[in-house]
Amino acid sequence: MYRLCSVLLLLCPVLQAQEINVNEKVTGTLGQQITLPCTFNNNGVDMQVTQIMWMKDSTNLATYSPQFGIHVQNKNDFNLTASPSSATLLIKLLRASDEGNYICEVTTFPGGNRRGITYLSVKAEPRNSAEALPVIAGDIEVPVAKCASANGRPPSQITWRSTLPGNFDTTMNNNTDGTYTVVSNYKLVPTWTADKQEVICIISYDSKESVIPITLSIQYSPIVTIEGYDNNWYLKRLGASLTCNAHGNPQPTVYTWKTADGSPLPNTVKAKDNVLYVDEVDERVNTTIVCEVTNALGSRASHQEVLVRDKPNTSGAGATGGIIGGIIAAIVGIAVITTVIMICRQQRKNQTAEDDDLEGPPAYKPPPPSVKMQEEKFPPIQGEEMLPLKAPLDHTDTMEDPEMTPPKYWSPTGSQNTATLEDDYLEQINPIYSELSIPESGSHRDDQGFVMSPAVYV
Ligand SMILES: *[C@@H]1O[C@H](CO)[C@@H](O)[C@H](O)[C@H]1NC(C)=O
Ligand SMILES: *[C@@H]1O[C@H](CO)[C@@H](O)[C@H](O)[C@H]1NC(C)=O
Ligand SMILES: *[C@@H]1O[C@H](CO)[C@@H](O)[C@H](O)[C@H]1NC(C)=O
Ligand SMILES: *[C@@H]1O[C@H](CO)[C@@H](O)[C@H](O)[C@H]1NC(C)=O
Repeated sequence: MYRLCSVLLLLCPVLQAQEINVNEKVTGTLGQQITLPCTFNNNGVDMQVTQIMWMKDSTNLATYSPQFGIHVQNKNDFNLTASPSSATLLIKLLRASDEGNYICEVTTFPGGNRRGITYLSVKAEPRNSAEALPVIAGDIEVPVAKCASANGRPPSQITWRSTLPGNFDTTMNNNTDGTYTVVSNYKLVPTWTADKQEVICIISYDSKESVIPITLSIQYSPIVTIEGYDNNWYLKRLGASLTCNAHGNPQPTVYTWKTADGSPLPNTVKAKDNVLYVDEVDERVNTTIVCEVTNALGSRASHQEVLVRDKPNTSGAGATGGIIGGIIAAIVGIAVITTVIMICRQQRKNQTAEDDDLEGPPAYKPPPPSVKMQEEKFPPIQGEEMLPLKAPLDHTDTMEDPEMTPPKYWSPTGSQNTATLEDDYLEQINPIYSELSIPESGSHRDDQGFVMSPAVYV
């Protein structure tokens, strides 16, 4: 009868009430301890627990009996804390082999056996590392970066992201402690252009991603160019120079200037690091000049043929003169136009100012104290005529007590009025403004409406 019920739980409501509670899944960390709880609840049904036993793969690990006490099979690895209603198994030092199903079996009288099953998984956090593998530039594919995730469980996944054309291979080592070491190498043909470029290693473990950028180091002997020869070196030209530009890995430090035929540099020439100064050009620099740059990997040179002319090439100089002349003409033109605009504006301003002094609504007249302040602000030459220029409207609005003249602040028409008046002013001052400001004036009004809103002001 009871056996039948333990199979057909749904048909036996009384026995269903008795429960064994265990965790369905528990995750422990390798090398640490973990407890697996098991509790029995008889829910008031009169029933005696005669034994609670923890098992793994049908091996008895630890047993509790109210009558005989606790028995632990392997005291080095396990312990049990128990009472008639609970038995908690302690695993002292987790190993990978501890992973699996743990069964808590409760024997009752007269109920028989009931079981709860916990799946224990054992994890180990990996140690991640990434490094560039310094290589020498070449045309055979080699590993240039290495990414490792050591002693993880379960094993990490490693992928790469790069704009450089390359590929990667990944190997996994099964360690004896049940952890995995995953190592991935990024490989490419190491051209010097890949030096200091970045590849990104992505290590995925436990649904977390570690994104590790790696800056490549590709060593190459110096790449050298010479700048500064304008094809117009002529006799007695003063202060000519050549600059030797070089880059390499490691950074080149030694620059050697010489002539291609091995003759010594003339003493009118001074070499300082990567610059060759020629105080005064003479026929002795009418030769091919060489800059040789050296780093730990070797030397490379750049050649510059120098042709010394008897006279300056004036057609080149003419072109330069033309450009300079053009620039000067443009500057003069801009200055003239600016002056004309300024004069016109000044006249219009004066005119509109006078108009407004006559037409201006009295409501907008600034109160006496503010007039004084504004007068002080303007230089005496411009005087009162300048006053209506935009300033009075803004100033009266901001300086008046909002409580005194609520309509201006609360009604949207009030603020719109202000904006329209302002626009009119600007239109009068500069007719272009009306064209330029059509799309903007709408938003300008919106802005004002927003600024004037009670929420902002109160
Ligand atoms: C096992 O657990 C019991 C009860 O918690 C405790 O008294 C005992 O010292 C433990 N034994 C070992 C070997 O840890
Ligand atoms: C290493 O472990 C993985 C995953 O558990 C398995 O698929 C693979 O066969 C193992 N390799 C070796 C050499 O044992
Ligand atoms: C420089 O050398 C070229 C030939 O290489 C020659 O034609 C020219 O006259 C030389 N200039 C001077 C100033 O000697
Ligand atoms: C002078 O310079 C111009 C432009 O730099 C060039 O086209 C021309 O060939 C040069 N003349 C001589 C004689 O080298």
